[in-house]
Amino acid sequence: MLDKKVAELLNEQINAEFYSAYLYLDFSIYYAEEGLDGFANWYKIQAQEERDHAMLMLEYMQNNGEKVTLNAIAKPDKECSTLKDPLEFSLEHERYVTSLIHNIYDAAHAVKDYRTMQFLDWFVKEQGEEEKNAEDMVKKFELFGQDPKSLYMLDNEMSSRTHSEPELTL
Ligand code: FEO
Repeated sequence: MLDKKVAELLNEQINAEFYSAYLYLDFSIYYAEEGLDGFANWYKIQAQEERDHAMLMLEYMQNNGEKVTLNAIAKPDKECSTLKDPLEFSLEHERYVTSLIHNIYDAAHAVKDYRTMQFLDWFVKEQGEEEKNAEDMVKKFELFGQDPKSLYMLDNEMSSRTHSEPELTL
């Protein structure tokens, strides 16, 4: 069993990760509609990664004898009116998710829950990568997004992203 507050926050994080998947799927749909299939692919893979994060949280809860409650996933609420919008929204969102992970870490630390802290270490590192990816996407778009030929090449680059299982064993 876990501390009540830690378990509550982990349960909320499952929902937050599924929401992230939903949000990125929405961005994937947006780019597909705009004809940028590479960007659409990149976000579809990102949505898969977010689902992986949710499942890791879920399995961790179960492994610790905690009841998991699946709550409603909110409708993605970001209105994209330019091709750069999803990239900026993503960066903002990943910074927010980092704060959520840190908050759970703080709660675990407060009750000397070293096991959960160790579990969350992977997510702390992962958030560093997620923020860096989001920053890189914004930068690349600022550099190359205005020129159609460069945008075409950037879109091609995005199309090569594939899904890989998270390197975390529970
Ligand atoms: Fe699950 Fe993008 O953080």
